[in-house]
Amino acid sequence: NIRKTVLMPVLAAASLMMAAPATMAATFKMAIGDAAGGTQWELGTSFAKSFSDKTGGKHKVDLFPNGQLGDEQDTVNNAGMGVLDFSIVAINNITPFSPTVGVLTLPYVIQSAEEAKLLTQGDIGKELVENTIRDAGVRIIGWSYSGFRVLTNSKRPIKTLNDLKGVVIRVPKNEIMIATYQAWGINPTPMAWSETFTALQQRVVDGQDNPYITVSAMKFNEVQKYITNIRYLFSLEPLIVSEQVFQSQKPDVQQAILEAGREATEHSYRFLLESEEKIRADLAAKGMEISDPADGEKEWIEKATTAVWPKFHKSIGGKDKLDAALKALGR
Ligand code: MLT
Repeated sequence: NIRKTVLMPVLAAASLMMAAPATMAATFKMAIGDAAGGTQWELGTSFAKSFSDKTGGKHKVDLFPNGQLGDEQDTVNNAGMGVLDFSIVAINNITPFSPTVGVLTLPYVIQSAEEAKLLTQGDIGKELVENTIRDAGVRIIGWSYSGFRVLTNSKRPIKTLNDLKGVVIRVPKNEIMIATYQAWGINPTPMAWSETFTALQQRVVDGQDNPYITVSAMKFNEVQKYITNIRYLFSLEPLIVSEQVFQSQKPDVQQAILEAGREATEHSYRFLLESEEKIRADLAAKGMEISDPADGEKEWIEKATTAVWPKFHKSIGGKDKLDAALKALGR
C-alpha cells in the first residue's frame, strides 16, 4: 500500500515534532565568594550533588569559588539580570538589594544556630524569599548556617569597646553593619569581600569579622592574630538562583532545584555543628589568640540594639517585622 508506506513515516515524524521536547542536558554556573573548604563550599557542593542525582546526571552545576565570577554583591546583580545561574553569598551582601532581609542582620536578633534555622525556615523566612524575588530577581533556595561572625584583628586583644578605638575594621558594604560599629564608637571601612584578604595583608585595615569557618577557609590566620568572640551577627549565607533562570526550567527541574536546596540546607547545619569547634581549636593551634568580651558582651549588646534597631525599622518594612521575629524566637 503505497499511501501507507509514504504517509506513515511523515506522520510519525510530525507527531515526534509535536511531542514535548525532552529536557536538554545543561550545565549551570554557581558563583562562590569564599575559598573552597568553607561553609559556602559545603552548601554548594552538597547542592550540586543532590541536583545532579535528582536529574539522573542530566544536569550539572560547576562551582567557581574565590569570587572568580565577581564580588558577592555583583553576583546578586548578575543573577537578578539572568546572566548568572546560582550564587552563594553572605546575607549581608543581599540586604542592599532587598532591605527587608535586614531583619536577619540586625545585631543580636539571632542568638543561636537553632534560632537562625527557626527564622529562616519559618513564615518570616518564606516572606523574605518572596521579597527577594520581587526586589532583586533572585530566589533563595537554601541557607548555609555559618556560625557567629567573630572579630579578628592584627593589632591587639580586644575585650572592651575601649580596646576597639583606633583599630581599623573592614565591614561589608552593609548599612546595618556600618551602623553597628558606629554605635560601638568607631567608623569602620566598607570594602568588597574580594578585596579583604589583601587589605588585611597590606595593613590597609587591621581587622574584620566573619565566622570561624570562613576565617579558616580564607586563611586569615596568616594575616590576623587576635579573635574576639562577639556574637552580634549569626552568619547566614543564602544559596540563590536567578529567578529568570528558574522560571525557564521545566517543572521537574524546578522541583529538583528546590529539593536539592532543602537537602543542602540540612547538610550545612550538620556541617556547622560538626566542624566549628574543631576549626576554632585549629586556629588557636596555629597561633591565633582567642578571647571573650570582658563584660560578657553587655555593653556591646546594649549600644548596638538601642542605636541600631530603631534606625532600620523603616527599611526592614516596619517595627512590626522586628517584633514578629522576636516573638517567633519567644522574646
Ligand atoms: C563578607 O564579609 O562580605 C561576607 O561575609 C563574606 C563571605 O561571604 O564569607
